[in-house]
Amino acid sequence: MADHSSDHSTRNDSATAYWQRQRCLIAGGTNGFGLVLAKTLSRYGATVMLLGRSADGVRNAIALCESVARTTTESPQQILGLTADLNQTGEGERVVAHCLQKLGGCDSFFFCIGQSSRSSILKIAPKEIRSSIEANLMTAVEITQAVADPVCRAHGHLVFISSLAGKFVTPAMGNYAIGKSSLAAFVEAVRLEAKPLGGHVLLVSPGPIARNTSREPTSSFNRYDGDVVECGLPESAKQPGGGASLRLLDATRLAQEVLLACEKQDPELVRPKKAMLLAGLIEWFPSWGRRILRQYTSGENRSTDDK
Ligand SMILES: NC(=O)c1ccc[n+]([C@@H]2O[C@H](COP(=O)([O-])OP(=O)(O)OC[C@H]3O[C@@H](n4cnc5c(N)ncnc54)[C@H](OP(=O)(O)O)[C@@H]3O)[C@@H](O)[C@H]2O)c1
Repeated sequence: MADHSSDHSTRNDSATAYWQRQRCLIAGGTNGFGLVLAKTLSRYGATVMLLGRSADGVRNAIALCESVARTTTESPQQILGLTADLNQTGEGERVVAHCLQKLGGCDSFFFCIGQSSRSSILKIAPKEIRSSIEANLMTAVEITQAVADPVCRAHGHLVFISSLAGKFVTPAMGNYAIGKSSLAAFVEAVRLEAKPLGGHVLLVSPGPIARNTSREPTSSFNRYDGDVVECGLPESAKQPGGGASLRLLDATRLAQEVLLACEKQDPELVRPKKAMLLAGLIEWFPSWGRRILRQYTSGENRSTDDK
């Protein structure tokens, strides 16, 4: 029988060798998937600067990352944090200046901020579309412009967590798709300019990610109730992925895959993998590909599923 535990420790050793003492800035690292990524980097010995809006959230995330770092490293590295609202002008530059001052540089940047919603695109107020672009794209712009130069000089990674909604438009998720597909276009443009300067850019497009039900506030699970009532959408639209038929992704495994994709300098990571194939099919066979997509989102194959 294959010895999976030795495979696991070999991967941990090589990841630790790669990430140890790398200075990582994680925007949105205080909750949800960003926090899982921060804990994984802490386990691998990276020096971590976390950023979120709530001071309590920052304190709690630092404590969680420190406890992971203590259990895996003999001389734990620095885990720092700060509060900022990246929707405010000037905050992205302030965060990066703070990071450079405290850590003496920044080797890699992880952008994990995003805001999903449920809506009917023909009924929502135009200001809701503006707000999706602000939450999913504009929060990334200033901080990326400020951090790109130090990361490229360090030959490090600029990593952006998008969503399958950046690849497909599915029922009730149109407004989120507008936000995430504009983020995806921004990331491609950053890639064109960062690569010649030595920086690696990774776009991550995951489906719905499983949440830690024992630690999450209940608001995380009822986040779409108001949207669904307001737009008269079916109850299924409240489900992760708007009720699409997809298995929830394991957050820790996804974080490990993101870090491995950095080590391999991959340009993109799409999970589940079959979604990449479907995106290609839609490009080549617009009617047939959309018919298959409809099967996944109409409930015909429903099991579980995107934020
Ligand atoms: N959850 C999923 O199933 C899923 C699926 C596919 C893709 N994604 C994407 O993965 C990423 C993480 O999602 P999540 O659901 O795990 O996130 P989450 O639990 O909602 O956490 C978001 C994080 O971003 C911070 N944040 C939000 N707005 C901010 C702002 N304006 N300025 C600074 N910090 C801000 C939050 O800090 P505070 O808590 O202090 O506000 C928190 O640390 C997002 O890009 C999301 O679109 C998620």
